[in-house]
Amino acid sequence: MDEPKLKISDPRTSKSYEIPIEHSTIRALDLRQIKEHPDEFGMMTYDPGYTNTASCISRITYIDGEQGILRYRGYPIEKLAENCTYLEVAYLLLHGELPTASELQDWSDEIRQHTMVHENIKKFMDGFLYDAHPMGMLVSTVAALSTFYPDAKNISSRANRRKQQLRLIGKMPTLAAYAYRHSLGLPYAYPDNDLSYTENFMNMLWKKTEPRYKSSPVLARALDVLFILHADHEQNCSTSTMRTVASSGADPYIATSGAAGALYGPLHGGANEAVLAMLDEIGSVEKIPAFIREVKAGERRLMGFGHRVYKNYDPRARIIRQIADEVFEVTGRNPKIELAKELERIALEDDYFVKRKLYPNVDFYSGIIYQAMGFHPEMFTVLFAIPRTAGWLAHWEELMTDAERRIARPRQIYLGPGELEFIPIEERLGKAQSARK
Ligand code: CMC
Repeated sequence: MDEPKLKISDPRTSKSYEIPIEHSTIRALDLRQIKEHPDEFGMMTYDPGYTNTASCISRITYIDGEQGILRYRGYPIEKLAENCTYLEVAYLLLHGELPTASELQDWSDEIRQHTMVHENIKKFMDGFLYDAHPMGMLVSTVAALSTFYPDAKNISSRANRRKQQLRLIGKMPTLAAYAYRHSLGLPYAYPDNDLSYTENFMNMLWKKTEPRYKSSPVLARALDVLFILHADHEQNCSTSTMRTVASSGADPYIATSGAAGALYGPLHGGANEAVLAMLDEIGSVEKIPAFIREVKAGERRLMGFGHRVYKNYDPRARIIRQIADEVFEVTGRNPKIELAKELERIALEDDYFVKRKLYPNVDFYSGIIYQAMGFHPEMFTVLFAIPRTAGWLAHWEELMTDAERRIARPRQIYLGPGELEFIPIEERLGKAQSARK
C-alpha cells in the first residue's frame, strides 16, 4: 500500500503539496517547502504551550487521556502500583523491562551504594535560611552535584550515564531529607542502607535519638506506591525541560535541576502544595459553593483539577484516593479528606467542569495523605521530585540514544519593529517625551 499523504493546497499560490503521514503525524519540516515566494523562509506551525506538537518519539510511557489509561513500558499503572516496589518500577522505566528477582536485588544494591552525599552538601544546606523552601534547596543542591561529579560530562558513554543515573536515584532522597531537616533545625541523618528505598528515606526524615528508626510498614508501602504513581508521565513540563536542557549536552545533574525547577511551579508539581492551601482557605463544606462561584467566574483555579492530557479521571488520583484510607488507619483521619471529597462531588456535578472535562488529577488527594503522614506542605513537591527522577533519567537515556536528537530550539513569529535607525544616548527621548511628540 502507498504511504498515506496529506494533501495541502495553498490558496496564495494555487500550488498543491503532498506531505507524508506517519503515526497520524506530519513532520513540521515538510511544511517548510510551502512558500508564497521562492526566497521566503517557508511555512511553520504556531503552537504556544506545545498543545499539539510531538517533540520526540518515545517508548517509555503511554497515556490515553480520553480513557484515563496510564502505562509504563506497556504495563498498566494499577498493576505496577499493586505488585511492584518503586525501585522495580524505576528499573522498568530505565531498562524497558521488569527485572528478575536477582536483577532487582543487584539494582537495589547498586542504588544503595550511592545514597551518601559529600559532607560539603551539608554546608550548602546550612547556608539556606531556616524558612527556605525545600524545593529551592533541592533544585540548587542537585545542580551543585554537577561540581562533585565532573565525570558526568561524559554523556556519550553508556557506562558513565548509568553511573550518574544510580547516583541521582540514590541521592535524591538524601538531599530531600537534608532539606527537610534543615527547615526543622534538626541534625542531618545519614542513610541506612539496610533499609528499603522508602524506609531509608523515612529514616533520614524522622530518625531522632533512637539507635535505629523503625517505620510503619503501612506508611512505607503507601509512600512507595505514591512514588510509583509519580515516577513518569511522558512529555510533561518538567520532562520536556529535562530533554531540552540535556539536548544542549549539559550533564544530568544540571538537567535534573532544570526539570525540578519546572516541577516546582503551581501548575505542575507545585499543585499538591497549592491544593492544601486552597483547602485551608475554603475551611468548611458550607464555603465550597462560594469558592466554586469564584472559580467559574475565572477569578481562580480549582487546584488539583484539570490536566492537559487527561480528559477523564486521572488513574493515579483514583489509586491515591484508595490509599488514603489505609494511611488514615495508622495516622488518624485527616479531616481535609471530607472537604476534598465534597469539593470533588460538587465540581463533578457542575456544568462548568463537566463541559471542560476537568477531573481530579494526581495532586488533588496526594497532599492530604502526605500531611497525615507528618509532612508540611512545602515538602509535597519534593516528594514528587524524588520518584520523578527515574522518569526524567529514562527520558534522558532515550534522548541520548536517539538518532534524531538535535538541540531543542523552537522558532518564533517575530512581530517586533523592523530595522530602526540607531539613536545616540544624548538624543534619545524618554517615553513621556516620545508620547507627546
Ligand atoms: N480550575 C478551573 N478552570 C480550569 C482548571 C482548573 N483547575 N483547569 C482548566 N480550567 C479551564 C480553563 O480556564 C479553560 O477554560 P476556558 O476554555 O473557558 O478558557 C479550560 O479549562 C482549559 O484550560 P487550559 O488552561 O487551557 O488547559 P491546559 O491544558 O493549558 O492546562 C492545567 C492544564 C493542568 C495547567 C490546568 O488544568 C490547571 O491549571 N490545573 C490546576 C493546576 C493543577 O492541578 N496542576 C497539576 C497538573 S497534574 C500533575 C502534573 O502533571 O504536574
